[in-house]
Amino acid sequence: MTLSIAVTSGKGGVGKTNTAVNLAVSLGQTGKNILLFDADFGLANVHVLLGTKPSKSVADFLDSKCSMEESITKFRDGVSIISGGSGLTELLNLDNRCRHQILSGISNLDRDIDYLIVDCPAGAADSTLFFASASNLVVVVLIEEPTSFLDAYALIKASNLETGVKNFAVIVNMAETKNMAKRSFEKFRDIAMRFLDINLHYAGMIPQSKDIKHAVAQRTPVTISRPDSMASTAFRDVSRNLMTVTIPKTNTLKFFDHMGEE
Ligand SMILES: Nc1ncnc2c1ncn2[C@@H]1O[C@H](COP(=O)(O)OP(=O)(O)OP(=O)(O)O)[C@@H](O)[C@H]1O
Ligand SMILES: [Mg+2]
Repeated sequence: MTLSIAVTSGKGGVGKTNTAVNLAVSLGQTGKNILLFDADFGLANVHVLLGTKPSKSVADFLDSKCSMEESITKFRDGVSIISGGSGLTELLNLDNRCRHQILSGISNLDRDIDYLIVDCPAGAADSTLFFASASNLVVVVLIEEPTSFLDAYALIKASNLETGVKNFAVIVNMAETKNMAKRSFEKFRDIAMRFLDINLHYAGMIPQSKDIKHAVAQRTPVTISRPDSMASTAFRDVSRNLMTVTIPKTNTLKFFDHMGEE
């Protein structure tokens, strides 16, 4: 069985891609098979943070130039990626038919995948709402700033009201201390749950880290370049926490649910 996880945020630039990449690597290091899908079409940068140059992307799949399997690039330690392509302005406004084609293409892959991790665009873009609703778990990355809280709340509200997503896991990124991060989460949860019928799980925090900055500049995930750093330990903790979240079944169409159907 594959668990699908959408990594989202309200505000842009809060560390989604870096989180998606390092969660994938952390899980890969435990012997799991991960497919990391870059759904930030046109602005894709998963491959940049991994320091790879995929020869194919999801754009080639949508243009019928290759199969979904052929669009996959192997990275390492059980991690493979589907690149979102870059500079493809036509992909920024992917229509619903294309989104369904991608959902079906990934769902019909004939390979062992323990975790599908989807790096989504910032905010409540249509693609984000679509891939979040198709995932078993929606992770919301936020930082301890009012704008990030407000935008995360807007994304959760849109996801909940428009596509019925109820379960969200929150990661507090660029945090100063564990205690402060937890308190920020609790503050956010108290407000969000007062107005919305949702469940918010705390997946943990990633510290503000020079090692991460350095790793991004070096185009090597920190969990590979500095596996003993505080940041890497935090990514391992968060990935463990995410695995323990219990996810009730819902009726919405999910990745890997409808094998063989378009
Ligand atoms: N915990 C952290 N500590 C220090 N720097 C960080 C941390 N997390 C992310 N960053 C920095 O923040 C920048 C933005 O990160 P990232 O690209 O992952 O954000 P994003 O949410 O995916 O952005 P976008 O909304 O544009 O897709 C990166 O260049 C990285 O250097
Ligand atoms: Mg990103």
